[in-house]
Amino acid sequence: MKIAVLYGGTSGEREVSLSTGKGIIQALENYGHEVVGIDFSPERLEEIIQLKVDLVFIGLHGKYGEDGKIQSLLDMLEIPYVGSGVLASALAMDKTKAKQIFASNGIQIAKSNSYSADLGITAIAEDVRKHFTPPFVVKPNQEGSTLGLTIVKQDHQIENALELAVKSDSTILVEEYVKGREMTVPVIGRQGEEQALPVIEIIPKNEYYDFDSKYKPGGSEHIVPAEIDQDLTVRMQEEAILAHQELGCKVYSRVDFIINEQNEPVILEVNTLPGMTPTSLFPDSAQEIGWSYDELIQKFVELSAS
Ligand code: DAL
Ligand code: MG
Repeated sequence: MKIAVLYGGTSGEREVSLSTGKGIIQALENYGHEVVGIDFSPERLEEIIQLKVDLVFIGLHGKYGEDGKIQSLLDMLEIPYVGSGVLASALAMDKTKAKQIFASNGIQIAKSNSYSADLGITAIAEDVRKHFTPPFVVKPNQEGSTLGLTIVKQDHQIENALELAVKSDSTILVEEYVKGREMTVPVIGRQGEEQALPVIEIIPKNEYYDFDSKYKPGGSEHIVPAEIDQDLTVRMQEEAILAHQELGCKVYSRVDFIINEQNEPVILEVNTLPGMTPTSLFPDSAQEIGWSYDELIQKFVELSAS
């Protein structure tokens, strides 16, 4: 197949995407596909049209890649692509909207409020102080890789945390801090036939799974399969599939949870274009059931071809 791989892009997760793209390109070449790698910017759209590819593999993360925007352009051009469509991508990227859907399906979420930056930092801080007591989490509503995220531990940090989050998005999400163990569940399959791969526990070297823990080699330890009881494993896998389906995701996603101190999963988010770097979680989980990185990427391609 002739496949264009879009990577890089302009989001805060550009560096991650460069690494994801490199991995995907190599894997597709190993499978004998004719691959064209494109460090994506809107000016390169013309080129993508002219290439007349069979499929686009979106290796972008974050804004304009994972949020439905590029998917919309490709839909208009009638170019097939791997993964979720416009609505699912946009919903998953909007943490507030996604959480409403999770909660309405009985999946436990962390209590949160979202605020438009238009209200101004002072007014938001005042409301946050009314509704939350530290520790709590301040993050951009639409962002990935924990960029712009602060765990507020002391009252005086609130304004700085809000200022930081607003740099990434015009909506800020303030969420109770769920103390517990970080877990993630990859989901793969045709719509209605999805399977969940082994649950992974993430043990970050830093205090939590921040940008460095995610992408520096040795920045975190992945335990696959997570050492948790079978009931909890099955529950998280079922909830991961449910979350994926209820958002309307396609082909693959990775669903992040915290297991709280009551030993219950609390969903954090669904990543419709999860990292596929050498230190990434999805490939690690696939490895556990005997799928190599290259096989995994090829499966995504096969699942996308109708
Ligand atoms: N947002 C990053 C790429 C991930 O979830 O893997
Ligand atoms: Mg994410």
